[in-house]
Amino acid sequence: MRASYLPSLTLDEYLRLVATVHPQLHAVLDFDRPGAARALGVLAATSSEFDSDRDGRGDSYRRAQQDALVRWTGIRALLGLLAPDPASGPPLLLDVLGGDGTVARAAAGRLGSLDVKPAIVTGDLSGQMVDRALAHGLPAVRQAAQFLFLREGSVDGVLLAYGTHHIPPADRPGAVAEAARVTRPGGRIVLHDFDDSGPMAGFFAQVVHPHAAGGHAYRHFTRPGLSALFADAGLPVRVLDLYDPLIVRAGSERRRPPEPAAPSRPVVHRRDGQYVAEVPRTALVALSTRPAGRLPA
Ligand SMILES: C[S@@+](CC[C@H](N)C(=O)[O-])C[C@H]1O[C@@H](n2cnc3c(N)ncnc32)[C@H](O)[C@@H]1O
Repeated sequence: MRASYLPSLTLDEYLRLVATVHPQLHAVLDFDRPGAARALGVLAATSSEFDSDRDGRGDSYRRAQQDALVRWTGIRALLGLLAPDPASGPPLLLDVLGGDGTVARAAAGRLGSLDVKPAIVTGDLSGQMVDRALAHGLPAVRQAAQFLFLREGSVDGVLLAYGTHHIPPADRPGAVAEAARVTRPGGRIVLHDFDDSGPMAGFFAQVVHPHAAGGHAYRHFTRPGLSALFADAGLPVRVLDLYDPLIVRAGSERRRPPEPAAPSRPVVHRRDGQYVAEVPRTALVALSTRPAGRLPA
């Protein structure tokens, strides 16, 4: 029996598909780097809560992300941090915890409003997520954040966002080191999550954990911990707060009268003839520029 790389494809089939449909991704893939065979073995033995509702909440999660623009305010800001210079041409970015391509789908839907138009490779641990991203027509690769099947210095920026707390704390230094390895000197590395002592971590602990299939017992990040994670990898870092609301639009109102922008609690207001529900969130973001030269092993 041939080992599957994705639920739908062996590694050979995947590589043939990507060579034909996504040559830019194919050019940066490296499944021959030392340790790759072992990493593939680990992937084959790994199942994820994001595969399906049978294993956790994968199907439900993907249904909930059908409107990729709900987080557009934050996604747009993160893309701006990753690729700040319109003069440098379209950057190639890797979204390490990309799921079925929410960030790439959002960017594709709002390309006209971006000064810099990135090509985004969606990575993910879950084979089901990567299958779905490929089905959306997106360049995608199944890999763990801790071991990327990409060549050294092959991308202009790396995003770890919207789920970075799912990487176990012991694996986070490896994930940051891998992000730095695949980023070209001068390229950006952006890690986004929520403060362990903030309201989003409280929401995950008190609301998501008791109700989600499989729970949600993950450690978020602290400001000093985030700085240390990058400093230990030999990377300069700036930690900042990012307004990253959930914004849902609908044809009818369910609740509350309009409120001003940047609210302190969930609000519903009217904009462009629609009802807009806005759930304010502030994310914690580490921003680094990959220096030239060797990084600590
Ligand atoms: C909360 S989901 C977010 C997906 C996508 N970024 C989005 O916003 O819709 C987190 C994703 O991280 C993936 N993931 C978890 N641990 C991972 C790891 N160690 N390496 C790569 N992906 C991982 C999961 O499979 C899942 O698809």
